[in-house]
Amino acid sequence: MKVKKSTYVIMLFTCLGVIAACKKSTDVSGSPVTPTPGSDVLNLPATPFDYTTEVLPAYLVNIKALSPDFDNTPSTNPITNTGATLGRVLFYDKALSLNNTTACASCHLQAKAFSDGLSFSKGFDGQFTPRNSMSIINLRHYAQKKMFWDMRAADIETQVLLPIQNHIEMGITDLHSLETKLAQLSYYPSLFKDAFGTTDVTSDRISKALSQFVRSIASFNSRYDDGMGNNFANFTASENNGKTLFMSRCTECHGGLLSNTAAAFNAFINVSVPSQNITMGPGVANNGLEFPFVDKGIGAVTNNPALDGGFKIPMLRNIELTAPYMHDGRFATLEAVLDFYSDNVKTTPNLGVQIPVGGFKFTAQEKTDIVAFLKTLTDRSVTTDVKYSNPFK
Ligand code: HEC
Ligand code: HEC
Repeated sequence: MKVKKSTYVIMLFTCLGVIAACKKSTDVSGSPVTPTPGSDVLNLPATPFDYTTEVLPAYLVNIKALSPDFDNTPSTNPITNTGATLGRVLFYDKALSLNNTTACASCHLQAKAFSDGLSFSKGFDGQFTPRNSMSIINLRHYAQKKMFWDMRAADIETQVLLPIQNHIEMGITDLHSLETKLAQLSYYPSLFKDAFGTTDVTSDRISKALSQFVRSIASFNSRYDDGMGNNFANFTASENNGKTLFMSRCTECHGGLLSNTAAAFNAFINVSVPSQNITMGPGVANNGLEFPFVDKGIGAVTNNPALDGGFKIPMLRNIELTAPYMHDGRFATLEAVLDFYSDNVKTTPNLGVQIPVGGFKFTAQEKTDIVAFLKTLTDRSVTTDVKYSNPFK
Protein backbone atom coordinates (compact mmCIF):
# COMPACT_ATOMS: atom_id res chain seq x y z
CA MET A 1 0.00 0.00 0.00
CA LYS A 2 1.32 3.35 -0.99
CA VAL A 3 1.18 5.90 1.81
CA LYS A 4 1.75 9.58 1.12
CA LYS A 5 4.73 11.19 2.82
CA SER A 6 2.45 13.80 4.39
CA THR A 7 0.44 11.00 6.02
CA TYR A 8 3.59 9.74 7.75
CA VAL A 9 4.26 13.25 9.00
CA ILE A 10 0.73 13.49 10.39
CA MET A 11 1.09 10.03 11.97
CA LEU A 12 4.40 11.01 13.54
CA PHE A 13 2.91 14.12 15.07
CA THR A 14 -0.14 12.22 16.24
CA CYS A 15 2.14 9.69 17.99
CA LEU A 16 4.19 12.44 19.55
CA GLY A 17 0.99 14.10 20.66
CA VAL A 18 -0.23 10.90 22.27
CA ILE A 19 3.11 10.33 24.01
CA ALA A 20 3.09 13.89 25.31
CA ALA A 21 -0.46 13.41 26.51
CA CYS A 22 0.37 10.10 28.20
CA LYS A 23 3.35 11.63 29.89
CA LYS A 24 1.09 14.13 31.59
CA SER A 25 -1.07 11.45 33.15
CA THR A 26 1.68 8.91 33.89
CA ASP A 27 3.95 9.07 36.91
CA VAL A 28 7.66 8.11 36.89
CA SER A 29 6.98 4.45 37.55
CA GLY A 30 4.91 4.37 34.38
CA SER A 31 1.60 3.48 35.99
CA PRO A 32 -1.38 5.68 35.19
CA VAL A 33 -2.02 8.38 37.72
CA THR A 34 -5.47 8.78 39.10
CA PRO A 35 -5.25 12.36 40.19
CA THR A 36 -7.09 13.18 43.38
CA PRO A 37 -9.74 15.45 41.98
CA GLY A 38 -8.12 18.77 41.64
CA SER A 39 -4.88 18.00 43.42
CA ASP A 40 -3.01 20.31 41.10
CA VAL A 41 -5.52 22.26 39.03
CA LEU A 42 -8.80 21.88 40.82
CA ASN A 43 -10.12 22.82 44.18
CA LEU A 44 -12.73 20.13 44.88
CA PRO A 45 -13.88 18.88 48.27
CA ALA A 46 -12.87 15.34 49.29
CA THR A 47 -16.56 14.48 49.60
CA PRO A 48 -18.57 16.00 46.75
CA PHE A 49 -21.01 18.78 47.56
CA ASP A 50 -24.65 17.84 47.86
CA TYR A 51 -26.36 18.61 44.56
CA THR A 52 -29.18 16.12 44.93
CA THR A 53 -31.10 17.60 47.86
CA GLU A 54 -33.05 20.66 46.81
CA VAL A 55 -34.18 22.76 49.73
CA LEU A 56 -37.60 24.17 48.85
CA PRO A 57 -39.43 26.80 50.88
CA ALA A 58 -42.38 25.50 52.91
CA TYR A 59 -44.99 26.77 50.46
CA LEU A 60 -43.50 24.54 47.78
CA VAL A 61 -42.92 21.29 49.63
CA ASN A 62 -46.03 19.58 48.26
CA ILE A 63 -45.56 20.86 44.78
CA LYS A 64 -44.23 17.67 43.21
CA ALA A 65 -47.47 15.87 43.97
CA LEU A 66 -49.61 18.78 42.80
CA SER A 67 -47.71 19.69 39.67
CA PRO A 68 -46.17 16.79 37.78
CA ASP A 69 -44.35 19.16 35.43
CA PHE A 70 -42.48 20.65 38.36
CA ASP A 71 -39.26 18.79 37.60
CA ASN A 72 -38.03 18.25 34.04
CA THR A 73 -35.24 15.83 35.04
CA PRO A 74 -35.39 12.87 32.64
CA SER A 75 -35.25 9.36 34.15
CA THR A 76 -32.14 8.78 32.01
CA ASN A 77 -30.19 11.55 33.74
CA PRO A 78 -30.94 11.99 37.43
CA ILE A 79 -28.64 14.38 39.29
CA THR A 80 -25.84 12.67 41.22
CA ASN A 81 -23.27 14.47 43.34
CA THR A 82 -20.38 13.13 41.27
CA GLY A 83 -22.15 13.86 37.98
CA ALA A 84 -22.89 17.47 38.94
CA THR A 85 -19.31 17.85 40.21
CA LEU A 86 -18.01 16.82 36.79
CA GLY A 87 -20.56 19.18 35.25
CA ARG A 88 -19.29 22.01 37.43
CA VAL A 89 -15.70 21.44 36.24
CA LEU A 90 -16.83 21.29 32.59
CA PHE A 91 -18.89 24.47 33.06
CA TYR A 92 -15.84 26.42 34.21
CA ASP A 93 -13.30 24.81 31.86
CA LYS A 94 -12.00 26.99 29.02
CA ALA A 95 -10.79 23.81 27.31
CA LEU A 96 -14.37 23.51 26.04
CA SER A 97 -13.55 26.25 23.54
CA LEU A 98 -11.39 25.94 20.44
CA ASN A 99 -8.67 28.32 21.65
CA ASN A 100 -9.01 27.69 25.41
CA THR A 101 -10.29 31.20 26.09
CA THR A 102 -13.96 30.69 26.82
CA ALA A 103 -15.92 28.62 29.31
CA CYS A 104 -19.67 28.40 29.80
CA ALA A 105 -19.01 30.55 32.85
CA SER A 106 -17.51 33.31 30.66
CA CYS A 107 -21.05 34.22 29.60
CA HIS A 108 -22.91 32.83 32.62
CA LEU A 109 -21.31 34.49 35.67
CA GLN A 110 -22.36 33.31 39.10
CA ALA A 111 -22.12 36.85 40.50
CA LYS A 112 -24.70 37.98 37.92
CA ALA A 113 -27.08 35.09 38.57
CA PHE A 114 -25.41 33.29 35.65
CA SER A 115 -25.92 36.03 33.06
CA ASP A 116 -23.08 38.29 31.88
CA GLY A 117 -24.03 41.95 32.08
CA LEU A 118 -23.61 42.54 28.34
CA SER A 119 -26.22 43.18 25.67
CA PHE A 120 -24.51 40.57 23.51
CA SER A 121 -21.94 38.05 24.74
CA LYS A 122 -18.38 37.83 23.50
CA GLY A 123 -17.43 34.47 22.01
CA PHE A 124 -14.07 32.67 21.84
CA ASP A 125 -12.90 34.58 18.77
CA GLY A 126 -14.05 38.05 19.84
CA GLN A 127 -17.31 37.95 17.89
CA PHE A 128 -20.61 38.74 19.58
CA THR A 129 -23.67 36.51 19.93
CA PRO A 130 -26.86 37.77 18.27
CA ARG A 131 -28.79 37.59 21.57
CA ASN A 132 -28.46 38.41 25.26
CA SER A 133 -27.10 35.75 27.62
CA MET A 134 -29.75 34.09 29.79
CA SER A 135 -29.77 33.44 33.51
CA ILE A 136 -29.69 29.67 33.94
CA ILE A 137 -31.31 29.37 37.35
CA ASN A 138 -34.13 26.97 38.26
CA LEU A 139 -34.13 25.54 34.74
CA ARG A 140 -34.98 22.20 36.30
CA HIS A 141 -38.41 23.66 36.98
CA TYR A 142 -39.07 25.02 33.53
CA ALA A 143 -42.10 22.98 32.54
CA GLN A 144 -41.89 23.71 28.81
CA LYS A 145 -38.37 22.20 28.83
CA LYS A 146 -37.32 24.03 25.65
CA MET A 147 -34.20 26.14 25.87
CA PHE A 148 -33.03 29.46 24.35
CA TRP A 149 -34.91 32.70 23.72
CA ASP A 150 -36.49 31.08 20.66
CA MET A 151 -36.88 27.65 22.33
CA ARG A 152 -35.00 25.94 19.53
CA ALA A 153 -33.37 23.33 21.80
CA ALA A 154 -35.74 20.57 22.90
CA ASP A 155 -34.30 20.23 26.41
CA ILE A 156 -31.29 20.93 28.60
CA GLU A 157 -29.41 17.81 27.47
CA THR A 158 -29.64 19.01 23.86
CA GLN A 159 -28.91 22.63 24.71
CA VAL A 160 -25.64 22.23 26.63
CA LEU A 161 -23.73 20.80 23.63
CA LEU A 162 -24.81 23.60 21.29
CA PRO A 163 -22.70 26.51 22.64
CA ILE A 164 -19.61 24.28 22.45
CA GLN A 165 -20.22 23.72 18.73
CA ASN A 166 -21.42 27.25 17.99
CA HIS A 167 -19.06 29.13 15.67
CA ILE A 168 -19.34 32.33 17.71
CA GLU A 169 -19.52 30.95 21.25
CA MET A 170 -16.92 28.18 21.73
CA GLY A 171 -16.08 26.95 18.22
CA ILE A 172 -15.48 23.19 18.66
CA THR A 173 -17.64 22.03 15.77
CA ASP A 174 -16.45 18.42 16.03
CA LEU A 175 -17.46 16.86 19.34
CA HIS A 176 -15.09 13.90 18.77
CA SER A 177 -12.15 16.26 18.92
CA LEU A 178 -13.52 17.61 22.21
CA GLU A 179 -13.73 14.06 23.62
CA THR A 180 -10.09 13.44 22.65
CA LYS A 181 -9.00 16.79 24.04
CA LEU A 182 -10.70 16.32 27.41
CA ALA A 183 -9.51 12.71 27.77
CA GLN A 184 -5.95 14.03 27.65
CA LEU A 185 -6.41 16.45 30.53
CA SER A 186 -5.10 15.00 33.80
CA TYR A 187 -8.20 15.68 35.89
CA TYR A 188 -10.94 14.27 33.67
CA PRO A 189 -10.44 10.46 33.71
CA SER A 190 -11.12 10.19 37.44
CA LEU A 191 -13.99 12.68 37.32
CA PHE A 192 -15.67 10.73 34.51
CA LYS A 193 -15.05 7.47 36.38
CA ASP A 194 -16.58 8.81 39.58
CA ALA A 195 -19.59 10.13 37.68
CA PHE A 196 -20.23 7.34 35.19
CA GLY A 197 -18.26 4.28 36.29
CA THR A 198 -15.51 4.30 33.64
CA THR A 199 -12.98 6.87 32.45
CA ASP A 200 -14.51 7.10 28.94
CA VAL A 201 -15.06 10.67 27.81
CA THR A 202 -18.06 10.82 25.47
CA SER A 203 -20.17 13.73 24.32
CA ASP A 204 -23.23 12.00 25.77
CA ARG A 205 -21.57 12.03 29.19
CA ILE A 206 -20.46 15.64 28.73
CA SER A 207 -24.07 16.55 27.96
CA LYS A 208 -25.39 14.60 30.94
CA ALA A 209 -22.89 16.02 33.43
CA LEU A 210 -23.36 19.62 32.27
CA SER A 211 -27.13 19.16 32.44
CA GLN A 212 -26.91 17.79 35.97
CA PHE A 213 -24.89 20.78 37.10
CA VAL A 214 -27.22 23.24 35.35
CA ARG A 215 -30.29 21.53 36.85
CA SER A 216 -28.76 21.70 40.31
CA ILE A 217 -28.64 25.51 40.25
CA ALA A 218 -31.58 26.33 42.50
CA SER A 219 -32.67 29.69 43.84
CA PHE A 220 -35.47 29.92 46.38
CA ASN A 221 -33.97 32.30 48.93
CA SER A 222 -35.59 35.58 48.03
CA ARG A 223 -37.63 37.99 50.13
CA TYR A 224 -40.54 36.97 47.93
CA ASP A 225 -40.12 33.36 49.10
CA ASP A 226 -40.01 34.55 52.72
CA GLY A 227 -43.11 36.62 52.06
CA MET A 228 -44.98 33.57 50.79
CA GLY A 229 -44.53 32.15 54.29
CA ASN A 230 -45.53 35.22 56.30
CA ASN A 231 -48.28 36.83 54.26
CA PHE A 232 -45.78 39.38 52.98
CA ALA A 233 -45.36 41.01 56.38
CA ASN A 234 -41.71 41.47 55.37
CA PHE A 235 -42.68 43.71 52.43
CA THR A 236 -42.74 47.51 52.45
CA ALA A 237 -45.93 49.30 51.37
CA SER A 238 -44.31 50.05 48.01
CA GLU A 239 -43.31 46.41 47.46
CA ASN A 240 -46.79 45.23 48.39
CA ASN A 241 -48.37 47.69 46.02
CA GLY A 242 -45.94 46.62 43.32
CA LYS A 243 -46.91 43.02 43.98
CA THR A 244 -50.61 43.83 43.53
CA LEU A 245 -49.91 45.64 40.27
CA PHE A 246 -47.65 42.85 39.04
CA MET A 247 -50.23 40.20 39.86
CA SER A 248 -52.89 41.97 37.82
CA ARG A 249 -50.80 43.09 34.83
CA CYS A 250 -47.86 40.79 34.43
CA THR A 251 -48.46 37.35 35.93
CA GLU A 252 -50.62 35.98 33.17
CA CYS A 253 -47.42 35.88 31.16
CA HIS A 254 -44.70 35.85 33.81
CA GLY A 255 -46.27 33.30 36.13
CA GLY A 256 -48.00 33.98 39.34
CA LEU A 257 -50.65 33.53 41.92
CA LEU A 258 -53.55 32.68 39.70
CA SER A 259 -56.58 30.80 40.85
CA ASN A 260 -55.76 27.17 40.15
CA THR A 261 -53.39 25.32 42.40
CA ALA A 262 -50.78 24.33 39.86
CA ALA A 263 -50.48 27.91 38.72
CA ALA A 264 -50.22 29.15 42.26
CA PHE A 265 -47.38 26.78 42.89
CA ASN A 266 -45.69 27.82 39.69
CA ALA A 267 -45.31 31.32 41.07
CA PHE A 268 -42.01 32.56 39.68
CA ILE A 269 -40.44 29.17 40.16
CA ASN A 270 -39.06 29.37 36.77
CA VAL A 271 -41.19 31.14 34.29
CA SER A 272 -44.65 31.40 32.92
CA VAL A 273 -47.87 29.66 33.74
CA PRO A 274 -49.12 27.94 30.62
CA SER A 275 -52.29 30.00 30.29
CA GLN A 276 -54.82 29.50 27.49
CA ASN A 277 -54.77 33.24 27.05
CA ILE A 278 -51.21 33.20 25.85
CA THR A 279 -51.92 33.33 22.16
CA MET A 280 -48.61 31.90 21.00
CA GLY A 281 -48.72 28.79 23.19
CA PRO A 282 -47.36 27.93 26.61
CA GLY A 283 -44.52 30.13 27.71
CA VAL A 284 -44.31 32.15 24.50
CA ALA A 285 -45.38 35.71 23.76
CA ASN A 286 -44.71 38.86 21.84
CA ASN A 287 -44.47 41.83 24.20
CA GLY A 288 -44.39 44.59 21.60
CA LEU A 289 -40.70 45.34 21.85
CA GLU A 290 -40.25 46.28 18.22
CA PHE A 291 -42.03 46.45 14.89
CA PRO A 292 -41.08 45.67 12.19
CA PHE A 293 -39.45 42.63 13.81
CA VAL A 294 -35.66 42.78 13.59
CA ASP A 295 -35.37 39.37 15.26
CA LYS A 296 -38.37 37.16 14.49
CA GLY A 297 -37.54 34.79 17.35
CA ILE A 298 -39.77 31.74 17.39
CA GLY A 299 -41.33 32.79 14.07
CA ALA A 300 -37.94 32.32 12.41
CA VAL A 301 -37.40 28.88 13.96
CA THR A 302 -40.89 27.61 13.14
CA ASN A 303 -41.31 29.48 9.86
CA ASN A 304 -44.70 30.58 11.13
CA PRO A 305 -45.48 34.30 10.74
CA ALA A 306 -48.09 34.05 13.51
CA LEU A 307 -45.17 33.48 15.89
CA ASP A 308 -42.97 36.32 14.57
CA GLY A 309 -41.59 38.36 17.44
CA GLY A 310 -42.48 35.58 19.86
CA PHE A 311 -39.91 34.80 22.53
CA LYS A 312 -39.67 32.60 25.57
CA ILE A 313 -41.29 34.47 28.44
CA PRO A 314 -38.28 34.84 30.71
CA MET A 315 -38.10 33.99 34.36
CA LEU A 316 -38.00 37.09 36.54
CA ARG A 317 -36.28 35.60 39.58
CA ASN A 318 -33.03 37.48 40.22
CA ILE A 319 -33.97 39.98 37.53
CA GLU A 320 -32.22 42.72 39.54
CA LEU A 321 -28.92 40.91 38.86
CA THR A 322 -29.32 40.12 35.16
CA ALA A 323 -29.31 43.48 33.34
CA PRO A 324 -29.39 44.40 30.52
CA TYR A 325 -32.85 43.18 29.60
CA MET A 326 -34.74 41.52 26.73
CA HIS A 327 -33.43 39.12 24.07
CA ASP A 328 -31.28 41.90 22.63
CA GLY A 329 -30.26 43.49 25.92
CA ARG A 330 -31.75 46.82 24.86
CA PHE A 331 -32.75 48.08 28.32
CA ALA A 332 -30.01 48.83 30.85
CA THR A 333 -32.27 49.12 33.89
CA LEU A 334 -35.55 47.85 35.28
CA GLU A 335 -36.79 51.45 35.25
CA ALA A 336 -36.27 51.47 31.47
CA VAL A 337 -38.21 48.19 31.20
CA LEU A 338 -41.11 49.73 33.12
CA ASP A 339 -41.03 52.88 30.97
CA PHE A 340 -41.32 50.57 27.97
CA TYR A 341 -44.27 48.58 29.36
CA SER A 342 -45.92 51.82 30.44
CA ASP A 343 -45.67 53.97 27.33
CA ASN A 344 -43.65 52.48 24.55
CA VAL A 345 -45.22 49.15 23.60
CA LYS A 346 -45.28 48.84 19.81
CA THR A 347 -48.37 47.73 17.99
CA THR A 348 -47.51 44.43 16.35
CA PRO A 349 -49.72 41.87 14.63
CA ASN A 350 -48.81 39.33 17.32
CA LEU A 351 -48.88 41.44 20.49
CA GLY A 352 -49.98 39.42 23.53
CA VAL A 353 -53.59 40.24 24.43
CA GLN A 354 -52.53 40.96 28.03
CA ILE A 355 -50.76 44.16 26.98
CA PRO A 356 -52.91 47.15 25.99
CA VAL A 357 -51.99 48.81 22.70
CA GLY A 358 -49.50 51.56 23.52
CA GLY A 359 -48.77 50.25 26.99
CA PHE A 360 -50.12 50.04 30.54
CA LYS A 361 -49.86 53.83 31.23
CA PHE A 362 -48.42 53.46 34.73
CA THR A 363 -47.91 56.46 37.02
CA ALA A 364 -44.37 57.20 38.19
CA GLN A 365 -45.27 55.76 41.61
CA GLU A 366 -46.66 52.58 40.07
CA LYS A 367 -43.46 52.05 38.10
CA THR A 368 -41.39 52.59 41.25
CA ASP A 369 -43.54 50.10 43.13
CA ILE A 370 -43.31 47.41 40.45
CA VAL A 371 -39.53 47.79 40.32
CA ALA A 372 -39.43 47.53 44.13
CA PHE A 373 -41.47 44.35 43.91
CA LEU A 374 -39.22 42.87 41.19
CA LYS A 375 -36.24 43.38 43.48
CA THR A 376 -37.87 41.16 46.13
CA LEU A 377 -37.24 38.28 43.69
CA THR A 378 -33.48 38.60 44.27
CA ASP A 379 -31.66 35.71 45.94
CA ARG A 380 -28.03 36.59 46.52
CA SER A 381 -27.20 33.22 48.09
CA VAL A 382 -27.09 31.64 44.64
CA THR A 383 -24.40 34.14 43.60
CA THR A 384 -22.03 33.01 46.36
CA ASP A 385 -22.85 29.33 46.99
CA VAL A 386 -19.47 27.60 46.66
CA LYS A 387 -20.95 24.48 45.05
CA TYR A 388 -21.79 26.56 41.97
CA SER A 389 -18.49 28.44 41.95
CA ASN A 390 -15.34 28.14 39.86
CA PRO A 391 -13.49 24.96 40.94
CA PHE A 392 -10.24 25.84 39.14
CA LYS A 393 -7.35 27.08 41.24
C1 HEC B 1 -20.20 33.28 24.28
C2 HEC B 1 -21.18 33.31 25.35
C3 HEC B 1 -21.79 32.01 25.82
C4 HEC B 1 -21.15 30.84 26.15
C5 HEC B 1 -19.68 30.52 26.06
C6 HEC B 1 -22.18 29.95 26.63
N1 HEC B 1 -23.40 30.57 26.58
FE1 HEC B 1 -25.15 29.81 27.24
N2 HEC B 1 -26.14 31.36 26.40
C7 HEC B 1 -25.54 32.45 25.81
C8 HEC B 1 -26.54 33.21 25.09
C9 HEC B 1 -26.27 34.48 24.30
C10 HEC B 1 -27.76 32.54 25.26
C11 HEC B 1 -29.10 32.90 24.60
C12 HEC B 1 -28.94 32.46 23.12
C13 HEC B 1 -30.22 32.40 22.33
O1 HEC B 1 -31.29 32.29 22.91
O2 HEC B 1 -30.13 32.40 21.09
C14 HEC B 1 -27.48 31.38 26.11
C15 HEC B 1 -28.44 30.47 26.55
C16 HEC B 1 -28.16 29.39 27.38
C17 HEC B 1 -29.15 28.50 27.94
C18 HEC B 1 -30.66 28.59 27.75
C19 HEC B 1 -31.38 29.07 29.00
C20 HEC B 1 -32.87 29.18 28.84
O3 HEC B 1 -33.54 29.59 29.80
O4 HEC B 1 -33.41 28.89 27.76
C21 HEC B 1 -28.48 27.56 28.68
C22 HEC B 1 -29.06 26.39 29.46
C23 HEC B 1 -27.06 27.85 28.54
N3 HEC B 1 -26.91 28.97 27.75
C24 HEC B 1 -26.04 27.07 29.08
C25 HEC B 1 -24.72 27.15 28.64
C26 HEC B 1 -23.72 26.12 28.85
C27 HEC B 1 -23.92 24.83 29.62
C28 HEC B 1 -22.58 26.56 28.24
C29 HEC B 1 -21.26 25.84 28.11
C30 HEC B 1 -21.28 24.53 27.45
C31 HEC B 1 -22.88 27.86 27.68
N4 HEC B 1 -24.18 28.18 27.92
C32 HEC B 1 -21.94 28.65 27.02
C33 HEC B 1 -24.20 32.76 25.86
C34 HEC B 1 -23.21 31.82 26.08
C1 HEC C 1 -47.95 39.19 26.82
C2 HEC C 1 -47.08 38.59 27.79
C3 HEC C 1 -46.29 39.51 28.70
C4 HEC C 1 -46.79 40.41 29.62
C5 HEC C 1 -48.23 40.74 29.94
C6 HEC C 1 -45.63 40.96 30.28
N1 HEC C 1 -44.47 40.43 29.77
FE1 HEC C 1 -42.60 40.87 30.38
N2 HEC C 1 -41.84 39.72 28.85
C7 HEC C 1 -42.60 38.98 27.97
C8 HEC C 1 -41.72 38.43 26.94
C9 HEC C 1 -42.12 37.55 25.79
C10 HEC C 1 -40.43 38.91 27.25
C11 HEC C 1 -39.16 38.67 26.40
C12 HEC C 1 -39.28 39.59 25.20
C13 HEC C 1 -38.04 39.71 24.34
O1 HEC C 1 -36.93 39.65 24.84
O2 HEC C 1 -38.22 39.89 23.12
C14 HEC C 1 -40.54 39.69 28.46
C15 HEC C 1 -39.48 40.30 29.10
C16 HEC C 1 -39.54 40.96 30.32
C17 HEC C 1 -38.42 41.40 31.10
C18 HEC C 1 -36.95 41.22 30.72
C19 HEC C 1 -36.45 39.87 31.21
C20 HEC C 1 -35.03 39.55 30.86
O3 HEC C 1 -34.52 38.54 31.36
O4 HEC C 1 -34.40 40.27 30.07
C21 HEC C 1 -38.91 41.99 32.24
C22 HEC C 1 -38.11 42.60 33.37
C23 HEC C 1 -40.35 41.93 32.16
N3 HEC C 1 -40.72 41.30 30.98
C24 HEC C 1 -41.22 42.42 33.12
C25 HEC C 1 -42.60 42.51 32.93
C26 HEC C 1 -43.48 43.27 33.78
C27 HEC C 1 -43.05 44.05 35.01
C28 HEC C 1 -44.74 43.13 33.26
C29 HEC C 1 -46.03 43.76 33.73
C30 HEC C 1 -46.01 45.22 33.79
C31 HEC C 1 -44.63 42.29 32.08
N4 HEC C 1 -43.32 41.93 31.91
C32 HEC C 1 -45.70 41.89 31.29
C33 HEC C 1 -43.95 38.78 28.02
C34 HEC C 1 -44.85 39.54 28.79
